[in-house]
Amino acid sequence: MNFPITRMRRLRKSPEIRDIFRETKLNKEDLIYPIFVKEGLENGKKEPISTMPDEFRYSVDDAVEFGKLLEKKGLKSIIIFGMPLEETKDEIGSPAFSDDGIVQKTIRKFKKETNLIVISDVCLCQYTSHGHCGIFSEFADKGFDGLNKDIADNISDSFEILNDETLDYLAEVALSHAEAGADIVAPSDMMDGRVMAIRDILDKNGHENTPIMSYSAKYASSFYAPFREAVCSSPGCGDRKSYQMDPANSKEAIRESELDLIEGADILMVKPALAYLDIIKSLKEEFDLPLAAYNVSGEYSMIKAAIEAGYLTEDAIFESLLSIKRAGADLILTHFAPYVLDKL
Ligand code: PBG
Ligand code: ZN
Repeated sequence: MNFPITRMRRLRKSPEIRDIFRETKLNKEDLIYPIFVKEGLENGKKEPISTMPDEFRYSVDDAVEFGKLLEKKGLKSIIIFGMPLEETKDEIGSPAFSDDGIVQKTIRKFKKETNLIVISDVCLCQYTSHGHCGIFSEFADKGFDGLNKDIADNISDSFEILNDETLDYLAEVALSHAEAGADIVAPSDMMDGRVMAIRDILDKNGHENTPIMSYSAKYASSFYAPFREAVCSSPGCGDRKSYQMDPANSKEAIRESELDLIEGADILMVKPALAYLDIIKSLKEEFDLPLAAYNVSGEYSMIKAAIEAGYLTEDAIFESLLSIKRAGADLILTHFAPYVLDKL
């Protein structure tokens, strides 16, 4: 036998050859940058986030200034996470659907001053006194106003996060974001039926052209820890396992996404990304919808920490983002966006 006719190394022999045969490429258009905006911060005084090196909480003005800088470098889209004043949080997350809420103000300014695609995270957890993404059983009958904040301190251990009752509030949040001008709304709560509830309220109020990017397969992950510190939204009691997905399950990701698609989702999402590449791949194969993947805070911070410690080089950033695209993601939500924009 001759030496094998096939030599795989032929197509690897020079940087130029490797360039033209590369299957997967990371583009600036793929990136969605998550930005944290905090009520009450003074301009020029962005706050470092202790759990996320080189990431900050911004005032509205500073967020838009930073967004403009990134836009000049080629960024196309951002997703906004808001932090209301601590004392305004209540049992139903009212600051989340207030007309002059932190996210609503930020959306308006971004839309006025940039051409960035403005995506809004739709949830209650940053705005509820108990830190959960939905309405507590204890407060179900209280309605939109007149809630007693002290009740939150006396919640029983056997609480429940009510699904159907939460939908009305989430829909209000999404509507207020759309009214403020959000280009896309992105529910991250994991209540059943929320996409339909949001689609319904948007359509009834003249926002039938506002797409919904659904966090369709969102797992109850320990990789969210730095984010929860960043936005002070750890649940006051219990955990989120009764509504977010069990990391052990994969078929469930397909069912979750299928339901969201039927309910009217325009874009699906897998979150987190790196420990869930198999889920990204299976959703990409299963559905024709655009697919986003969330390279979450913990994925960002562990790589940053390893680079800072000298255990890894910065190449690990590109390699991990590339793996997310290779698995099938069309869009990547990532705190590495500023870094990637500088390098591409
Ligand atoms: C809350 C929300 C979370 C993230 C985005 N929206 C945390 C959670 O569900 O506990 C995580 C983002 C990240 O870790 O980067 N609805
Ligand atoms: Zn939430």
